[in-house]
Amino acid sequence: MREFEGKVAVVTGTTGIGRAVALHLARQGASVASLGIDLEANAALETMAAAESLLLTVFHADVSVPADVSRTIASAIAAFGGIDIIVNSAAVHPYGTAETTPFEAFMRCMAVNVGSIHLTAEFGVPEMRKRGGGVIVNLSSVQGHACQSGVSAYVASKGAIHALTRAMALDFAADRIRVVSISPGSVRTPILELAARTFEGEDADIDAVFQRFGAAHPLGRIGEPEEVAVLAAFLASDKAGFITGSDHRIDGGLTAGIGVR
Ligand SMILES: NC(=O)c1ccc[n+]([C@@H]2O[C@H](COP(=O)([O-])OP(=O)(O)OC[C@H]3O[C@@H](n4cnc5c(N)ncnc54)[C@H](O)[C@@H]3O)[C@@H](O)[C@H]2O)c1
Repeated sequence: MREFEGKVAVVTGTTGIGRAVALHLARQGASVASLGIDLEANAALETMAAAESLLLTVFHADVSVPADVSRTIASAIAAFGGIDIIVNSAAVHPYGTAETTPFEAFMRCMAVNVGSIHLTAEFGVPEMRKRGGGVIVNLSSVQGHACQSGVSAYVASKGAIHALTRAMALDFAADRIRVVSISPGSVRTPILELAARTFEGEDADIDAVFQRFGAAHPLGRIGEPEEVAVLAAFLASDKAGFITGSDHRIDGGLTAGIGVR
């Protein structure tokens, strides 16, 4: 029997890590509802899932909008009968300082990156409770522990995810709902490509920039989305039954050092 047979997972974000997690869980037998705002990416994920005959349905949703999250979670329950796992991976990554980031962009970042975690819990936790428990995995970042300059809204959102994860873990422990976060270092996804183009220009040689980003990690490379998916799946599995309220770094050693060789 595959590890997630009979489980239902809601995963936000249909590219990068969210896509890898959705495919990984579905390959391990889960029924997966993927929520994404990017129509092209949604269609691509649907095609990938269909090619492998996976039980994976993609729903178009802005996960910062209560009506979208409520509607898509209701559709997931209608399709699959309940919810056992939520993986919150959707995020935006505005660049700028507190002086240069427009306030609207700051608030949008908080609404998408943090608000979506609140919303999937608001509509998903009652369903988990009916099933006798569940797991919520929130994608944070090493930037929630220590940070780069020039990304203050993103950094604020990632720190907030660590705090919200702890709060939710306490609030829902009695319901046997575990809540954890993951803090990746650099991972080969569209959000990292955005970083490369922001710092190096639109015509940047992405592979070369990714190699440089990788060199900043003690293991000498960036991570792959599938590596994060394996960690998310472990945390979502019964093997991790005593783990809650904690953050789990997957960063090639990036935050082990103090930046001085
Ligand atoms: N890739 C990295 O280097 C890295 C490092 C640390 C943390 N993370 C975190 O991992 C998570 C996944 O990011 P990724 O690397 O896969 O990047 P990504 O850009 O591929 O994924 C983000 C996804 O969120 C979706 N999204 C954005 N706004 C949305 C909205 N309002 N509603 C629904 N979907 C929306 C995007 O369409 C995209 O599919 C994020 O939380 C990110 O902050 C990534």
